[in-house]
Amino acid sequence: MAQDKFSKIGFILAVAGSAVGLGNAWKFPYLVGQNGGSAFVLLYLFMTFFIGLAIFFGEIAIGKLSESDPVNAFKKLASKRKEAWKFAGFTMIGAIIIASFYTVIIGWILKYAVMVITELPKDVEASEKIFGSFYANDAASQIFYFTIVFFLCIFIVSKGIKSGIERVNVWMMPSLLILLIIMLGYSFTMDGFVQSAKFLLVPDFSKLGVSSILTALGLAFFTLSLGVGVIIVYSASLPDNTNLVSSSIIIVVINVVMGILMGLVIFTFVFEFGATPSQGVGLVFISLPTLFAKLGTLGHVLAFAFFSALLFAGITSAISMLEPFTHYLIREFGFSRKKALALIGVFIYCMGILCILSSIEGIKENLVFFGKSFFDCLDFLSSNIIMPIGGITVSIFVGFVIKKDALYILFGPYMSRAVFEIWYFMIRFVAPISIVIITINALRS
Ligand code: TRP
Repeated sequence: MAQDKFSKIGFILAVAGSAVGLGNAWKFPYLVGQNGGSAFVLLYLFMTFFIGLAIFFGEIAIGKLSESDPVNAFKKLASKRKEAWKFAGFTMIGAIIIASFYTVIIGWILKYAVMVITELPKDVEASEKIFGSFYANDAASQIFYFTIVFFLCIFIVSKGIKSGIERVNVWMMPSLLILLIIMLGYSFTMDGFVQSAKFLLVPDFSKLGVSSILTALGLAFFTLSLGVGVIIVYSASLPDNTNLVSSSIIIVVINVVMGILMGLVIFTFVFEFGATPSQGVGLVFISLPTLFAKLGTLGHVLAFAFFSALLFAGITSAISMLEPFTHYLIREFGFSRKKALALIGVFIYCMGILCILSSIEGIKENLVFFGKSFFDCLDFLSSNIIMPIGGITVSIFVGFVIKKDALYILFGPYMSRAVFEIWYFMIRFVAPISIVIITINALRS
């Protein structure tokens, strides 16, 4: 079988597509809003470049050295206790769990992309009513939009790495950038832009608390798609002679820049129309549509561009979540890609429906576990438990199990010895210890 590999640019765009997602477009702005703005942005940059990037390189090493799915990668590269290390690869279940609720949110975005063409709520009450009744009462519509998104993602991944995943990323990522630039160009003409830029770019350290540190690391992890095998499996299809270091840095920079551009656009509207930046999750679905409404016809166009951008960002991430497990089933059990996806799809579809039902009045009471809705349980399990475990196992595996020489052969051509040693120290000690401290703190609160 000819190896189904990315082209160099395809690899960069696909990993960037995985990284740039609702985490950047949605979580990043509202967390920045809640944590007082620019100082949090700095903290996030610090976490991304020091801890996130170190683990990112670690996952690339595991993927490239093994050219395998996550489970077999750990098994293949471990010199002893192969059967035990294999379990580290099962953190890829986290990717499937994330996909279950993530595609539900993309479904909401699709509904909004369609709705805003003709309808924009005039004030916050009207907007809350629209989102509230969709979210809490309208299971049928939510399932409808979720189903479209679900089949679209499965279809794309069923086409394979090159003609599915790469092809979609190669046009969606540039389109996303173009949409962002158009919106940014418009924001630039508004008075709110200066305030927005100040809010995001001039640090005010008085707003930072200890919890901001935890939040920033969690966000860095989430937006880089770390800890659940995605970067491992994409790197397994990396073309030879790719400059691993410059490609990774390009990807991480794209990820950060997209988040900041998105934030600039969103906060320009927020400041222009006197809304509050710290309002949390409702920012995108409740507040922004009312702000667009103030611009008349142009508002509809901008709102459509905005939700389409979110849609592209979301889909390129969602498809990446399906790949690790698919790859595993194909390799381990000789399944065809379609059969593997059918199996995974049934799981994701059922979990997605339960997520939707867990917000519906009259049903949600039955879907509360440990005091959380089913949706929140999946989010908690993946972000607070599986991703940190994945991050720690990757750093220990790369730091202590894989031979240092093998790593140097891989990275040596692209980084100086000094940089390599710094990275090696980060991944052995700094990254795992930080993740442990941060996770324990997060779990206690
Ligand atoms: N990075 C994506 C975002 O910012 C989402 C994401 C989180 C993800 N974890 C992942 C994507 C794991 C793929 C795999 O929205």
